[in-house]
Amino acid sequence: MSLENDAQPVIMSTDNTTMEKLLESIDRNRLPRHVAIIMDGNGRWATSRGLERSQGHIEGVNTVRRITEIASEVGVECLTLYAFSTENWNRPKAEVDALMHLIGIAIQRETPDLIKNNVRLTMIGDFGRMPEDARKRLQGCFDDTAHCTGLVLNLALSYSGRWDISRAARDIAREVADGALNPDEIDESLFASRLSTAKLPVQDPDLLIRTGGEVRVSNFLLWEITYTEIEVTDKFWPDFTKEDFLKAIISYQKRERRFGKTSQQITNQ
Ligand code: FPP
Repeated sequence: MSLENDAQPVIMSTDNTTMEKLLESIDRNRLPRHVAIIMDGNGRWATSRGLERSQGHIEGVNTVRRITEIASEVGVECLTLYAFSTENWNRPKAEVDALMHLIGIAIQRETPDLIKNNVRLTMIGDFGRMPEDARKRLQGCFDDTAHCTGLVLNLALSYSGRWDISRAARDIAREVADGALNPDEIDESLFASRLSTAKLPVQDPDLLIRTGGEVRVSNFLLWEITYTEIEVTDKFWPDFTKEDFLKAIISYQKRERRFGKTSQQITNQ
């Protein structure tokens, strides 16, 4: 099986009229600025079809492409995709190797289209732990899309919320030990500024989507999702469509975000 050649062209899963209707029902003034996605269910999608798990990851790349397209089209500012967690290093070596290879190849292949769509690629996570080949391909895409001013496509790779929080705590402790920082200055805003998400246009996701039906956060953006609205769908990631993404945004727009305040306070704002 060749990872390079196996990705299929993206098939629109819905007719244009439905898409147009969904696009029309979105309030452009209340878009989630930052959408984060836990892309789960690739393995189950594949095994339910009698295929190798890696085939699910290959198909998952097609979903990455179409969701990046629709997020960019609708005007989302930042899309963070949980592509490989710190804990995923514990998967069988063959699956880890195949995923790393796939991610590198896919990113390199998609770079011209990212540039065409004005999408800037960035990542959060332990870049140094990634294999050299994937690092080179990713770095090429970071450099080639650095000038793009549209959607920020942020891949969480070798990332976990606890990894990032403990790394930030270590950096802050060093600054204190070096005399560059007074412990009294450490508050929520300073701590947030040391997390790897601080470089994003919007740090905290407004909307978190999880595919694959599990209702948990799996060590993703633990600090940042404090007031994030969560949407869980049973659909496996390879089956997740542009229409599903738009429906998640519409559901998000029906919610009242109170951030700990009362409903009355929000209405009177
Ligand atoms: C979770 O499904 C998915 C992953 C661990 C990998 C997701 C990666 C991709 C879709 C490729 C990303 C590529 C780019 C270019 C960003 P799972 O394997 O845990 O599925 P399961 O829960 O059914 O076992």
